[in-house]
Amino acid sequence: MIPVFEPVIGEDEIAAVAAAVRRGEISGSFGRSIPEFESGFATYCGVKHGIAVTSGTTALQLAVRAAGIGAGDEVLVSACTNIATALAVSHNNAIPVPVDSENLTWNLDLDQIEKSITPATKAIIPVHVYGHPVYMPKLMKIAKKHNLIVIEDCAEAHGALCDGKKAGSFGEMSCFSFYANKIITTGEGGMIVTDNDAYAEKMRLLRNLAFTTPRFRYEEAGYNYRMTGYQAAMGLVQLEKIEKIIDDKRRVAKLYNKHLSGIPGLKLPAEETWAKNVYWMYAVVLIDSHSAGRDALLTKLTAKGIETRTFFCPMNRQPCLTKLSGYRQVSCPVAEKLWETGFYLPSAHNLTEEEVIYIAEAIENALKG
Ligand SMILES: Cc1ncc(COP(=O)(O)O)c(C=O)c1O
Repeated sequence: MIPVFEPVIGEDEIAAVAAAVRRGEISGSFGRSIPEFESGFATYCGVKHGIAVTSGTTALQLAVRAAGIGAGDEVLVSACTNIATALAVSHNNAIPVPVDSENLTWNLDLDQIEKSITPATKAIIPVHVYGHPVYMPKLMKIAKKHNLIVIEDCAEAHGALCDGKKAGSFGEMSCFSFYANKIITTGEGGMIVTDNDAYAEKMRLLRNLAFTTPRFRYEEAGYNYRMTGYQAAMGLVQLEKIEKIIDDKRRVAKLYNKHLSGIPGLKLPAEETWAKNVYWMYAVVLIDSHSAGRDALLTKLTAKGIETRTFFCPMNRQPCLTKLSGYRQVSCPVAEKLWETGFYLPSAHNLTEEEVIYIAEAIENALKG
């Protein structure tokens, strides 16, 4: 089976993890790897602070909490995203309000934002889906006009550029995942980056059970969202390789573009002139199709040993969200169509041209008959 992703962990990552363990950096409270990874990754993003946590999910939850969002508040989120984006809102007792996608980049449609804003709207979480950045200058302008806090969900877009600036350097806080299939990985892990000193301090406090003095008396209800030292040690080695990994992701995307572009009925991923797409996953959409057509194609690809995944089920179709008390029904026709007709292909950064040709031929043959 050609998998949808394959983490590439070298002897240097293994040596760095072993060295961190030997130094006793087995928890999240001591050692040098965590502060080094935090400052290294924040610097890479062009942002002042990094706060390392256990996952992209907990990064988002912490950011929403630090923003002071809670019961009675609404937060706009991209409709086409991982459920973690919306759960960060609902786990803070607020209501996620999905914003439909646009057809070119599959990111949230910036022209649909303002109509969803109510007096209860406190923030917006744009997601840079599959590695293509949202056009952040326009989003920031809308957010400023309506006094919304912006939390970027960069789980899929490490190193992506928007007008030459890194995804994650626009919003008040930006959240990354280092799960095994992400651009860089620490196994499990995540980080929030922010220029805001108060948010950074609050998140450092909350991720560590809000320990203050005296040690065992707490003003705030915190969490244990600490990353371990040896995960951070792996992250430091991965960070050295990030631009090479992104180059490889772009090489794979170029190969797919070359070998898939002649196949009718297939819409390939875009790259806007102002964007650098890091192609976290190489996703495509079947034009003029429906879920039965897409699913039949994926079954044929599985039979050929090619793993795929469908697009995300949109947030307006998630029972765990729509049953929330206070949830507002919204329609997201574009995201719903993407869920029915989109899928992504094997996207490991070490994929070979032979594998891409094999996949392209399998798609072409499957669509023919
Ligand atoms: C857009 C998005 N947000 C959040 C997450 C959650 O990250 P994690 O799996 O590290 O919790 C993911 C994970 O795939 C994601 O794709």
